[in-house]
Amino acid sequence: MPRFSKAVSSLRSSEIRDLMTLASRPDIISFAGGMPGNELFPVKEVEELFRELDIKKKQAAFQYGPTPGLPSLLESLNGFLEKKGLPVKENRLLITTGSQQGLNLLGKAFIDPGEPVLVENPCFIGALSAFRSYEAELRGVPVDSDGISMNALHRELERKEKPKFLYITPYFHNPAGLLYTTERKEVLIRALQGSDIPLIEDDAYGDLYFYEEDRERLRPIKAINPSGIDVCYTGSFSKILGPGLRLGWMLVPEEIYGKCELIKQSADACSPSFTQVLADAFIRSGQIYSYVESVRQEYKRRADAMVSALTEYLPDYVQWNKPRGGFYIWLTLPEGADATKIMMLAIEGGAVFVAGKTFDPAGTRNNSLRLSYCNNTPQQIAEGIPIVANSIRKICG
Ligand SMILES: Cc1ncc(COP(=O)(O)O)c(C=O)c1O
Repeated sequence: MPRFSKAVSSLRSSEIRDLMTLASRPDIISFAGGMPGNELFPVKEVEELFRELDIKKKQAAFQYGPTPGLPSLLESLNGFLEKKGLPVKENRLLITTGSQQGLNLLGKAFIDPGEPVLVENPCFIGALSAFRSYEAELRGVPVDSDGISMNALHRELERKEKPKFLYITPYFHNPAGLLYTTERKEVLIRALQGSDIPLIEDDAYGDLYFYEEDRERLRPIKAINPSGIDVCYTGSFSKILGPGLRLGWMLVPEEIYGKCELIKQSADACSPSFTQVLADAFIRSGQIYSYVESVRQEYKRRADAMVSALTEYLPDYVQWNKPRGGFYIWLTLPEGADATKIMMLAIEGGAVFVAGKTFDPAGTRNNSLRLSYCNNTPQQIAEGIPIVANSIRKICG
């Protein structure tokens, strides 16, 4: 028997990864994965951009690159982030292999085995598994429709052992779909100022808003640039270009950058040069803006289709959010309901989603489920939602 490390022995495959196999069965309508629709990728545009590059850039695409990222991409991405009001000059930008790597580097930088970290409940599964891999004690703080629950957070902050950081996804939360209010961000900032608890602000979906009027609410805490908090801002090309590029970034204070860059050196030396060259060309051509505008409209069309199907078919006792952007709708079922049973029934009927306990830091609470609309046409949504609704009725009455 191989004698694995303690850290690795505690890792288990997540339900979401296992479900990817099911999701790829052609006869199943999958509301499970959080991946963009294949048909939406800008294949032709990127082909054209690559063809137009000079030979030096094409050659560089095949070569190793500097650990922090290709200088040209760092420059264009700085410009992209500066337009969002992010304080790029007072921080350092590190290109990561997906923002998943960013979370992993931060986990490694801060967590010693057994130390507490604060996460939202529910929480993005990739963050939970990254922090678990460093043997963090995950302390879940519930969210309500405005953001993280401040009463629960204050209780956590008063506990004796200080958490190493707080991780949040304030903009079109995965899985809860919620968008933090400006007020909630303000009280959160006040609670953290001077606490010596860094904030990891994950902004993987913020560009995918459906309503112009939400722009102010989408202003990152990092852009507010509050004094007395080390804000580690992470972002990704996955939802605004394609997850296959495996490119994300972190914008962090100098000291944290230094440690993360060292850790990245030992993890993968550099992120893929090939896709960095493509992402750079995509930004510089300005196509990133027109492309994001077009997918925003398409995701809104899909979200609207799901909202109307859920309004028609769901029983009244199910609570859910109308999405204002992003990929997800979160359903809360009556206390004690078992979403895994509902899921098994739905799979028999031909539809799948992710059961809520996957996103619970303790892995137990299961009276909820996540539906994603990003990868389905309105017609598939209209066919699949009645299957989900019927399965809920059969189990919950
Ligand atoms: C909230 C959140 N953060 C980070 C990621 C990781 O994205 P990637 O590693 O593809 O950049 C995801 C992916 O679904 C996500 O939902």
